[in-house]
Amino acid sequence: MSKFIIKGGKKLSGEVNISSAKNSVLPILAATILSGGKCVIKNSPMLEDVFVLCDVLKTLLAKVNIDKINNIVEVDTSNLSDLNVSDDLVRKMRASFLVMGAMLARFGRFKISLPGGCNIGSRPIDLHLKGLAALGAKIKVGHGYVEAYADKLTGADIYLDFPSVGATENIMMAATLAKGVTIIENAAKEPEIIDLAIFLRKLGGNIQGEGTDTITITGVEKLEGVEYEPIFDRIEAGTFMIAAAITNSAITLRGVNEKYLKPVIAKLREMGVKIDINNDSMFVDGRNKLNPTDIITMPYPGFPTDMQSQMMSLLAKVNGTSIITETIFENRFMQVGELTRMGGNIKIDGRSAIIEGVQDFTGAEVKATDLRAGAALILAGLCAKGETVINDVYHIDRGYVSIEKKLKALGADMERV
Ligand code: EPZ
Repeated sequence: MSKFIIKGGKKLSGEVNISSAKNSVLPILAATILSGGKCVIKNSPMLEDVFVLCDVLKTLLAKVNIDKINNIVEVDTSNLSDLNVSDDLVRKMRASFLVMGAMLARFGRFKISLPGGCNIGSRPIDLHLKGLAALGAKIKVGHGYVEAYADKLTGADIYLDFPSVGATENIMMAATLAKGVTIIENAAKEPEIIDLAIFLRKLGGNIQGEGTDTITITGVEKLEGVEYEPIFDRIEAGTFMIAAAITNSAITLRGVNEKYLKPVIAKLREMGVKIDINNDSMFVDGRNKLNPTDIITMPYPGFPTDMQSQMMSLLAKVNGTSIITETIFENRFMQVGELTRMGGNIKIDGRSAIIEGVQDFTGAEVKATDLRAGAALILAGLCAKGETVINDVYHIDRGYVSIEKKLKALGADMERV
């Protein structure tokens, strides 16, 4: 098991290129199932989660080629088979469940093991299944599996009790080949939903309204393979913005789009971070004294839950009291115990964490419990007094491309061993 060793206190400077979005590439890879042809995903991030989804597609007999030098993933789903996806793949990464809607639309039947929960919550899929059932699928759940059958999916009006990202994506994909019109009300509005809709339209799908809470999909007969380049990873970008703020440094991010970073930009500016944007680059200056603030995670365009842990590290270092309320996942404060080991003063009260800023974190041996909690520990390590050892970094590798290389290039003293 590799680990990160960080000697804190180094200032950061220079530029960092932001990779493409994990949470955009994953549903897009699932959507290649619908094309029945060859898709080329360019500038694809070479991440563990992307490799797992490629393994899922290979299980379904798609031809997959991963070019790690040029960051290209080619997927040919001309000859696909509706074989079962192995349990361990689905349990390894719950986003594998995103193939359900596309496989159902293509084959009229599909069986897949229920995605397990994960450290941050039980992660139910009731909204996914409700949507697929509304399109005419017969759903059977039992023995850890879910099976769905539908001679022909037909369009329907679907209201999502919660604007679930995954459920919106699964329904969008299934509806693309359904007969008739599907309207998704209270749909998720995340940038990754917009990116998936643009990809589906490029395949030949008929979709309107992405990015609003009502998405309308008119089924088509046939789609075909295309080339595509996903949007940038707004969570990686936010993580590096906080790396500048927490080390009181100034750095430049390249390949970003202000539109998709509004909640993070707003909150960091509120705290006193100077942020200047021109075109696709962003200058982030955290050298001023920063003020505490309160965060409530909400569905987009609210503050992203995927930035909550990283923000906690920053607020734990800012003089004063801050409160973070996590409204999306029921167990996403796993980083609190580890940050406390580093000297953080954080108290959990139900779905809120009360944070009293401390002068300094002190380096300690800690472990990543989930992807974003791991990122939060890196951020704390960058400014801690002394050495921090972070174990179980495989969690972090799921969502960040060579994070230690990018941080070292900015001046951090960080090694992977
Ligand atoms: C996506 O997960 C992201 N993953 C998550 O990123 C992100 O945190 C989340 O959206 C919220 O933005 C990918 O895109 C691969 P949801 P997803 O369905 O689709 C409840 C990361 O760190 N819910 O919007 O699973 C659920 O329990 C990961 O990159 C139901 O109740 O999120 C949760 O409380 C972590 N029933 C809330 O909705 C359902 O059927 C949000 O879940 C589905 C979800």
